[in-house]
Amino acid sequence: MTPSYPQTTALSRHTQTKAKFNKQLIALTCAAALSGLVLTNTAHAKTVNVTSPDSHIDISLSDDNGRPEYQIHFNGKPVISPSKLGLVFVQLGELGSEFTIKNVTRNSVDQTWQQPWGERENIRDHYNSIVATLSNGKLDFDIEFKAFNDGIGFRYVVPKQAGLTSTAKLDITDELTEFVIPNPQLTTAWWIPGRGWNRYEYLYRTTTLDKIDRAHTPMTFRTADGVHLSIHEAALTDYAAMVLNQGRDGTLRADLTPWSDGIRVKTQPGFSTPWRTIQIANDAPGLLNSDLILNLNEPNKLGDVSWVQPGKYVGIWWGMHLNENTWGSGPKHGATTSETKRYMDFAAQYGFDGVLVEGWNEGWDGSWFHNGDVFSFTQAYPDFDINAISQYGKSKNVRLIGHHETSGSVTNYRNQMSDAYDLYKKHGVTQVKTGYVADGGDINRVDENGIIRHEWHDGQFMVNEYLHSVTEAAKRGISINTHEPIKDTGLRRTYPNWIAREGARGQEFNAWGSPPNNPEHTAILPFTRMLAGPMDFTPGIFNLAPQGLDAENRVQTTLTKQLALYVVLYSPIQMAADLPRNYVQRLDAFQFIQDVPTDWSDSIAVAGEVGDYVAFARKQRGAEDWYLGALTDEKPRKLTVKLEFLTPEKRYEAQIYRDGKNADWLTNPYDYVIETQVVTAKDSLSLSLAASGGTAIRFKAL
Ligand code: NOJ
Ligand code: CA
Repeated sequence: MTPSYPQTTALSRHTQTKAKFNKQLIALTCAAALSGLVLTNTAHAKTVNVTSPDSHIDISLSDDNGRPEYQIHFNGKPVISPSKLGLVFVQLGELGSEFTIKNVTRNSVDQTWQQPWGERENIRDHYNSIVATLSNGKLDFDIEFKAFNDGIGFRYVVPKQAGLTSTAKLDITDELTEFVIPNPQLTTAWWIPGRGWNRYEYLYRTTTLDKIDRAHTPMTFRTADGVHLSIHEAALTDYAAMVLNQGRDGTLRADLTPWSDGIRVKTQPGFSTPWRTIQIANDAPGLLNSDLILNLNEPNKLGDVSWVQPGKYVGIWWGMHLNENTWGSGPKHGATTSETKRYMDFAAQYGFDGVLVEGWNEGWDGSWFHNGDVFSFTQAYPDFDINAISQYGKSKNVRLIGHHETSGSVTNYRNQMSDAYDLYKKHGVTQVKTGYVADGGDINRVDENGIIRHEWHDGQFMVNEYLHSVTEAAKRGISINTHEPIKDTGLRRTYPNWIAREGARGQEFNAWGSPPNNPEHTAILPFTRMLAGPMDFTPGIFNLAPQGLDAENRVQTTLTKQLALYVVLYSPIQMAADLPRNYVQRLDAFQFIQDVPTDWSDSIAVAGEVGDYVAFARKQRGAEDWYLGALTDEKPRKLTVKLEFLTPEKRYEAQIYRDGKNADWLTNPYDYVIETQVVTAKDSLSLSLAASGGTAIRFKAL
């Protein structure tokens, strides 16, 4: 029997009776062990609660039937029904069966910390927490819960202890964590499938929650009452990623991605799991105005990170995706000395910090998807003179941005990593984009391309491999932008040189994806993938239909929606992804890409519904200007935005880039208007968004 909300004021009950309870508990456990009976200590079931500082969220943890379970109420209504907790080990069996609460400690924290770069400068970390020690009389483990105003986090901690001295290693075969969602048939979920060779590069599905089989996180859902929630994890290090697997309708289980030998996590006594997180908000923008994931990560471990620099870049990139150029050598080779210099000239002229060059190194010839083992990360193609290019860049104050595609052969990459990063360091490269394209196949089998894949993209081995590249790069003052990454879990707080990731369907799919990204894709991303952290989506395509409006592969947005993406999809590094020739044809609209910053002192989601539309206002870091980005799915809409985020009494010139009257992504994507207007915080703006359109505004402080 589980006491139901809100009668359980268990903490005080617990504190008073702790000593007595412990004695009873040990006696019961021993009796059960001796008799071989299953322990049913219902009479002694203990429930402890912790509420968020604003009291809206209530978590209760119970050890009913010797099995820990938790439930969550939001504004008095259940949002997570009683859900199991526990871990299963080869060496120990199940931690979670016949374990009861032995001890609870409480804490409350209200502190503010600063991000070296980010969507806001100051982050408030405000929560109440409990650490419950569960015991079966022989072994203890902790479950730690934190209740914030914007959601909750919990994790398991297995401390070193007398009962574990004979066990040097602990192998986890299962995590029993559940998220039981009430009324799954009345709950709408936005999710991508958690199956297959894992790159997270899918279009989102919008279904009732009971239709999910396996889903990656962040998995976002809305209850019949309009409460918005998103399940994810924070601080994923030295552990397997969690995928949500639905058994009974509404019961989502944490399914840990296994090693090739079937073990989920290889660890040792004295470990803690990542935080399992649930963001909870009254409305969709509430999910966006949350720092929960960052707050559940460890502070910066790298010390002075002033060398990590946000900024904008162009690159030898889109031409390859459009097939105008090749990564490999030959007449269409993109990464040549002269082409790089041309991009550096363009970057210098229009104020970009960096030029990304892909396909500069030996190994791309043939089918590069299969070339993981032959890539050299130090040997340039003969037509790419890295010395001359880095000298040229210096003279123009533009940096070369490095690129390492591994095609999933991480051993080859690891073997060359020191030399590769040393080479880049020598040439003044401070940012490297990495890639882990590895398609098809199943674990430990030969994939459709004849390659043996041993470990999953999101298993513990790869979790560690990705972080290894980040910490090795940090030693050389290099930041990493990972493509085909492990999903983001807020580790940029701890390792601020992990400057961006892909980890979702980006712009590249518009060049060759079948189908390309649909109009609602970027109206879902903010509420799902982006809750995890910055994404290198690479916005800013101006030639929206390079093969004509009738071709399948084209960008399914209007031109000003491409501009809005710079504000909506946060990343400290943003690419102007199109070819320079397409920008010089539309210098008026290109002005917005030149102006928009990538580092903010504040960010506010001012409107939005998942999958329909979203509007963000962000304030430039170290300056008075604000920016606004608003976009819609395939439906045209009008949005009224109150400008109350602007500094009171200040006047601003609103430089507005909006869809024209006849704009429509399908038939007329280039119809746009640029106009200005003087505004103050007392004003509202009425935005007209075309079908898959958008508005981008710079509020220039006067
Ligand atoms: C996939 C990345 O997402 C893309 O940006 C890159 O161009 C290719 N891999 C080649 O590395
Ligand atoms: Ca990709």
